[in-house]
Amino acid sequence: MIVAIGADHGGYELKEAVKVYLESKMYKVKDYGTDSKESVDYPDFGLKVAKAVAEGEAETGILICTTGIGQSITANKVPGIRAALCLNEDQAKFSRLHNNANVIVFGARYTDEDKVKEMIDVYLTTGFDGGRHQRRLDKIVEIEKRYKK
Ligand code: RB5
Repeated sequence: MIVAIGADHGGYELKEAVKVYLESKMYKVKDYGTDSKESVDYPDFGLKVAKAVAEGEAETGILICTTGIGQSITANKVPGIRAALCLNEDQAKFSRLHNNANVIVFGARYTDEDKVKEMIDVYLTTGFDGGRHQRRLDKIVEIEKRYKK
């Protein structure tokens, strides 16, 4: 599985740890930056990861910023992206079971490396339940179409 990862300066250190962890688990990682703690703009990195997932360059994505909010807002602007900001394993699990999330987002301010590894494990190994949940996702697609410019 190819995992696209990205962060702004607020998530840079955690992203580096996530990369090492994913590679140790034999995932192929595409790192879309940022590459240092120098201040950058989170939408630049949220867009790169969301685009990679939406266009099939990666099967799933991981985004990090300080709060996780900016990356969530950014990624969810890209049609086909279902980005889930998660704080715990239960949210990570349900983001897949019910929402078929294709990007998971973390706020570095509110979590730590161990917690993130646990959430990633659950996120990457849980499938989508389908059924009534697919009907709900179809409604989100209709919303995307209705507001398409
Ligand atoms: C950067 O200071 C901060 O605003 C950013 O990392 C993120 O939390 C935005 O939502």
